[in-house]
Amino acid sequence: MSVNKEIKRITTHTLAELKAKGEPISMLTSYDYSMAKIVDAAGCEVILVGDSASNVMAGHETTLPITLDQMIYHAQAVVRAAARALVVVDLPFGSYQGNSKEALNSAIRIMKESGAHAVKLEGGAEIQESIQRILTAGIPVMGHLGLTPQSIYKFGTYQVRAKEEQEAERLLSDAALLDACGCFAIVLEKIPAKLAAQVTASVKVPTIGIGAGQACNGQVLVVHDMLGITQDFSPRFLRRYANLGEVMHNAVAQYVADVKRHDFPNEKEQY
Ligand code: KIV
Repeated sequence: MSVNKEIKRITTHTLAELKAKGEPISMLTSYDYSMAKIVDAAGCEVILVGDSASNVMAGHETTLPITLDQMIYHAQAVVRAAARALVVVDLPFGSYQGNSKEALNSAIRIMKESGAHAVKLEGGAEIQESIQRILTAGIPVMGHLGLTPQSIYKFGTYQVRAKEEQEAERLLSDAALLDACGCFAIVLEKIPAKLAAQVTASVKVPTIGIGAGQACNGQVLVVHDMLGITQDFSPRFLRRYANLGEVMHNAVAQYVADVKRHDFPNEKEQY
């Protein structure tokens, strides 16, 4: 194994230190080598190989269809690129809900076959046994509460979760449980900022928000959304840092035009 001595790898302990120092944690998704290389070199501490690959890479409407084998394929490419970032991989729908033995086997496959550093699971009390079993095997687990997209058919909509008191109470108790179990961080997706602040103040581990406000210890976005590669998704929480969709469209259109008018390749671009 070759080890790069100059670059210090981010670990789950680094994230705890960042929370203690009050320094926000940056996390973005990536699903392939080229994108992960850019995200890693730009200083993002955590790369999530999210099951949003199901939407972004494969064009599915939900995250449900992506398989464990497909997640491992994406994770392998990202791990090859990430010299510094902590690489976390989503356990896909159907690979951990059945029972804790299946959950452990899925997590072990991800760690062994991709070389990733941690896994993420959606849910609280209902998957406690699976989380504990995975942790017992020495695999770091990131939790995920609030709008958990694998449960979209239960929720019926992608609207903000836990606005009502009962669901907010449940979320607070799930966060306490994930914290006590030993998860190293908790993603809070699309919940009121006030509730995310309450969770963040009540747990020891870092919270990482997406549509969950400023008080979280870190932020995560889907990289294709923040770069403007995806064009048809504009929730309020999304800040677009570039309009790469337009840049790429124009570049491709220019290429097509150049080919059509015999401008590409020119004399210098041939042998
Ligand atoms: O799959 C994903 O991209 C995620 C983030 C939105 C947190 O789970």
